[in-house]
Amino acid sequence: MRVLLVGSGGREHALAWSLRRSPSVDSLLVAPGNPGTAREAENVAVGAEDIPALLALARERSVDLTIVGPEAPLALGIVDAFQEAGRTIAGPNRAAAEIESSKVFSKGFMQRHAIPTAEYGAFTDYDEAVAFARSLPLPPAVKVDGLAAGKGVVVSQTYAEAEAALRHMLLEGQFGVAGRSVVVEERLEGQEVSLLAFTDGERVAPLVSAQDHKAVFDGDQGPNTGGMGAYAPADVLTPELRQQAIECVLLPAVRGLAAEGRPYRGVLYAGLILTPRGIKTLEFNCRFGDPEAQVVLPLLEADLAEVLLACAEGRLDPTSVNWRPGACVCVAMASGGYPGRYQTGLPIDGVEEAERLGCQVFHAGTRLQGSRLLTAGGRVLGVTATGPDLETAIRDAYRGVQAISFQGAHYRTDVGAKGLAFAGRA
Ligand SMILES: Nc1ncnc2c1ncn2[C@@H]1O[C@H](COP(=O)(O)OP(=O)(O)OP(=O)(O)O)[C@@H](O)[C@H]1O
Ligand SMILES: [Mg+2]
Repeated sequence: MRVLLVGSGGREHALAWSLRRSPSVDSLLVAPGNPGTAREAENVAVGAEDIPALLALARERSVDLTIVGPEAPLALGIVDAFQEAGRTIAGPNRAAAEIESSKVFSKGFMQRHAIPTAEYGAFTDYDEAVAFARSLPLPPAVKVDGLAAGKGVVVSQTYAEAEAALRHMLLEGQFGVAGRSVVVEERLEGQEVSLLAFTDGERVAPLVSAQDHKAVFDGDQGPNTGGMGAYAPADVLTPELRQQAIECVLLPAVRGLAAEGRPYRGVLYAGLILTPRGIKTLEFNCRFGDPEAQVVLPLLEADLAEVLLACAEGRLDPTSVNWRPGACVCVAMASGGYPGRYQTGLPIDGVEEAERLGCQVFHAGTRLQGSRLLTAGGRVLGVTATGPDLETAIRDAYRGVQAISFQGAHYRTDVGAKGLAFAGRA
């Protein structure tokens, strides 16, 4: 089949890489793509949020299946637009994507369907929000309702910090419309795990679990980022907990969305936290995670395009979604200063050497100037290795990282460490 992939980050390079290895895929377009996807596919200079132009491209190039990487076009209704035009597209429609694009909807939805999550209140009024925040036993997590590219959440350490966040969101309008409503929620403690699932609106095929590393520095110190690395599987989600997450989170979510007239097709991402009081759902996302995609897709044995097509057509066979044994680790190499201000346009060396060492180097924020690869974003590369076990995959990923250099390059040195600690080997 002819496939169009929408997006341009590390997740999309991993998707393109996986689609390239799908026997059912004859040709692959990526819009707009990046220098990494250009090596797997044909990049077309159409923006990921330009829905009319994407639809025109799919028509002109007789695309059989469109796959959407990022959340923004899904929240804008790319699936609705393609379906109205009679084109096959994998992903939730705008109403189903609200599970991610509105945290107020998402929290209310979880409450209606008894999906375990933090206690919360939703507010548009600053004084009411502050009063609720102060009534909680610990300084709360404060979240803007709408999409904010990972920047709309403050897990406050003090009540004053929570109040300041609410002021920025509700009184100063720092997040625009996205911050007109907020969620204030009970702070939870525990290890986080991402459990994603393919779904056709009815049936669910869970992926291997993964653990992201959101904080910028080792030991989960410093501000949150888009994700400094990941590993899969995340064994802290034991087989028992995984079963519980499927039964108490993923299945009720898919059934609840269908029951509310928002049938969900595509990849559903559950962000879980394993608290002393059991599994709680921190959030849902309406697409693959970044960097979770980079560690989960290399372990997928099944043909990704076939699986996503089956989701889109409402005929997913969960038994067909098989996985390779082993582990996968991705270490993000970021620009110095990220997630704050950083410089771009710096030359990158050593990518080929890392690949010779057996790593898959996914491009996240790069651009080409002639044949010179330059930095072009906060997260620059995702150096990824697959191995028979986590220890080997960590070792090999860091060998790749050592081979690559650019001025100011920053990465965490402890990606996967929690997985080793869980296994009792660290
Ligand atoms: N109630 C909570 N208690 C403790 N930590 C929390 C809570 N809610 C969120 N967090 C922390 O903040 C992070 C981001 O929260 P959340 O997933 O809701 O935001 P997001 O912006 O939608 O994230 P993403 O970019 O992954 O989609 C979580 O991964 C977790 O580390
Ligand atoms: Mg989210």
